[in-house]
Amino acid sequence: MKSDFASTLERWYESLGRDLPWRHTSDPYLIMLSEFILQQTQIVQGMDYYLRFAERFPVAEQLAEASEEEVLLLWQGLGYYSRARHLHAAAKQIAAAGHLPKDYSFVRALPGVGDYTAAAIMSFAFDEPYAVLDGNVQRVLARHFGISEPVDSTQGKKLLRALADEMLDRKHPALYNQAIMDFGALQCKPSAPVCQTCPLAETCQALSTHQVDKLPVKSKRTAVRDRYLTYIYTRTEDGQTLLHRRGSGDIWQGLYEFPLIESDRPLTMKEVEDKVKDTLPSSLFPLHSIARDVCHLLTHQRLHADFYCLTLPSFNSQFIIHNSQLPIHLPRLQSRLGAKASKNYQLINESDLDSYALPRLLQKLYAILLHKSENNDNFATET
Ligand code: ADE
Repeated sequence: MKSDFASTLERWYESLGRDLPWRHTSDPYLIMLSEFILQQTQIVQGMDYYLRFAERFPVAEQLAEASEEEVLLLWQGLGYYSRARHLHAAAKQIAAAGHLPKDYSFVRALPGVGDYTAAAIMSFAFDEPYAVLDGNVQRVLARHFGISEPVDSTQGKKLLRALADEMLDRKHPALYNQAIMDFGALQCKPSAPVCQTCPLAETCQALSTHQVDKLPVKSKRTAVRDRYLTYIYTRTEDGQTLLHRRGSGDIWQGLYEFPLIESDRPLTMKEVEDKVKDTLPSSLFPLHSIARDVCHLLTHQRLHADFYCLTLPSFNSQFIIHNSQLPIHLPRLQSRLGAKASKNYQLINESDLDSYALPRLLQKLYAILLHKSENNDNFATET
C-alpha cells in the first residue's frame, strides 16, 4: 500500500514532473536559495529571482559578503522581505562554518528555516529521509487518505505529520518529495484537480466519498487588517526626491519609501494639505493627486494607498536640512510625515531611485506617476 503510493507518485513524476533549474544541482546552498525564494511564491514568479541570485551569488560566501541593501534590491518585488534578510543571515552562518553540512540540526537552526525547508534541503541536497509537508503535500495526503481533521488543528497536524513520515520512500527521499510536491501542484490542485487522469484515483478516499472539493479542511480564517497609507512623493525642481528607509517592527523592514502619513481611514486631500501646512505653504506648492485607493494585499493586511506629488523649488540638500528659516523646514516636515521615522530621510537624485529597494506597492505608485507625467496629464489639485 505504502510502496504503491510512493511508486505511483514517482512514476508519475518521472513522466510529468517539472524540469526546474534547482533540480539540476545538489549544491545545498543553491537548494537552500531556491527554497527561500519559493516560500510563499509561485514557481513562475520565483524562477527569474533564483537565476539572478544564483548568478550574482553562486556561493554562500559571496552572499554573506554582500550588503543588506544589495540583497534587498535583488529581492525587490518578491515580497515577504524578511525571507531575504533571513537568507542573508543564513549565508553568513554557512560561510562562517565553511560549508552547509549534512546535519539536520545545523540546517533546521538556520534563520528562516522551518520544518518544511529543513526537510527540503536535507532530502534534495543530501537524499536524507526527511518528509516534506507543505500545502501541496497536505492536500494530497488529506484527500487520498480522507483526513477531515482541519490541517491547521493540533490533531490534524499530528495526523498529517505521521502520514507524511510513513509514506516517505526512505530509499529515494529526494525523488519522492519532489514527486508528491509536483503532484499536488499539477494534478491534485487546490481547485479543479484532474481526477479523471489521476493515477491514484482507485485508492483515493476523497474521490470515492465525493469529498475532493471539501478536503483539506481549514479551521482558521486569517484576519485581514485594513491600513490607509498616504504617500507624498516630494521632489525638487532639480530632480531630487525624499526617501525614507523603513525601520524594524513592521512590514517592509529595510526597504525605502516616499514620505508617508498613515491613518485609520482614508484622508481627504484637504486633510493631507493640513498635515503639511505648517511646513509648506500649500498655496505656493500645491499637492497633485496622482492616484487614489490603490489596493495592495499582503498576507494579513489590505493596504489602501493614496499618492500625491509635491514639487518644491530646488534647494541644496544641506540647506533644506539645516536652515530652519526656509519655507521648507525638513525636520518639521519629517515630524509631520512620521515622527518615528524622521531620522531616516534622505534626499537622493530621482535618477538614482532604481538603486533603492522599494516595496512593490511603491513601484506601482511611482509607475503611475511616470505614466502621468510622460503623458503630460494635468495633475488634479482638488479632491
Ligand atoms: N516549492 C517549494 N520548493 C519547491 C521545489 N523544490 N520544487 C517545486 N516547488 C517548490
